[in-house]
Amino acid sequence: MYIFFSVILLTAFVKLECKTEYHGVYGQQLILGCIVKPVVVDVTIITVTWKRMGAAAKADANLLEYHKEKRELTPGFTFAEPSWNKKNMNVSLLLTNTKMADKGEYECMVTTDVGIATATISLSVTAKYKTPTMSSIPETNIKENTDVTIFCNSTGGHQTGLIWWFDEFGTNWTRSAELVAKEMDNGLFSLSSKFIVLKATSSYTNYTCKVLNVNGAEEGMASFVIQFASRDLGIKSDHLDIVSTTKWLTPVAVIGSLIIGLLAALLFFKRRSAQRARRQSTFPLMSMSFNIQYMSF
Ligand SMILES: *[C@@H]1O[C@H](CO)[C@@H](O)[C@H](O)[C@H]1NC(C)=O
Ligand SMILES: *[C@@H]1O[C@H](CO)[C@@H](O)[C@H](O)[C@H]1NC(C)=O
Ligand SMILES: *[C@@H]1O[C@H](CO)[C@@H](O)[C@H](O)[C@H]1NC(C)=O
Ligand SMILES: *[C@@H]1O[C@H](CO)[C@@H](O)[C@H](O)[C@H]1NC(C)=O
Repeated sequence: MYIFFSVILLTAFVKLECKTEYHGVYGQQLILGCIVKPVVVDVTIITVTWKRMGAAAKADANLLEYHKEKRELTPGFTFAEPSWNKKNMNVSLLLTNTKMADKGEYECMVTTDVGIATATISLSVTAKYKTPTMSSIPETNIKENTDVTIFCNSTGGHQTGLIWWFDEFGTNWTRSAELVAKEMDNGLFSLSSKFIVLKATSSYTNYTCKVLNVNGAEEGMASFVIQFASRDLGIKSDHLDIVSTTKWLTPVAVIGSLIIGLLAALLFFKRRSAQRARRQSTFPLMSMSFNIQYMSF
């Protein structure tokens, strides 16, 4: 009778308050928050136990155990409070690097000098796809009107996702692409989408792919420009043409202006000598013949 009474009394003196649901992200830190709320002041914590409850055949896993000043920690799990001690009522658990396998039900149990309390928390873990990487076959020097295979790959989602394709004018090419999804060793998925551009031309060079999660939310995007060969060569040969034309034009212009200058000088002197001759002699025909000579030159 006395024992029964004291258990009820002790339980009533301490409460454990935790948020009941958490959503973690793969590869990130996460705190499962639990605070001991004593009814009386000056409470000392004697034990703290955090465990993940075994689903089906799996046994419970002790993640953190504090008992009379001694701690036992599983790597990846620790008190969220960096310098936690028995007077600290914040017994939150820190997951330093959340993994897919961490999802499940958690139990926190605290014993104090005035009573015992337990609470359970459920944790789900999600993972996002990374920004996709793109590549093509062939990679470079692609000729006009040849088929080009473009890949769009991404990893890291916690469920199979989707990959959509668009050209630079916004046309949706997703129906022409082929998607392969695989589950990796860490429980995450890898996506590889293959899109073949038939008879690729340099008027459509830029293709964009978008990665979406299973709910249709966009998680990443990348663009790829097909590396055509003919276009580059076209620009180079145009440039060469301009260079060779200027090379050829410069001497022609120089020689041309020299000739014109010489002719002008010649004309000037011959006019003057002709005038002098006209003034001096009575043979106007001579000057005529000079002018005719110049014209024929
Ligand atoms: C418990 O401690 C953690 C880590 O320091 C902190 O993030 C959290 O806010 C604390 N909870 C409360 C209710 O003070
Ligand atoms: C994408 O995946 C395909 C098929 O696995 C591979 O051939 C290609 O090289 C990958 N591309 C990139 C950029 O990772
Ligand atoms: C693109 O095409 C796919 C496959 O037909 C379709 O499911 C998706 O809704 C389209 N996306 C847009 C933005 O039009
Ligand atoms: C390709 O198209 C995308 C989307 O329209 C754009 O964001 C990107 O800047 C373009 N890339 C190049 C090299 O033009």
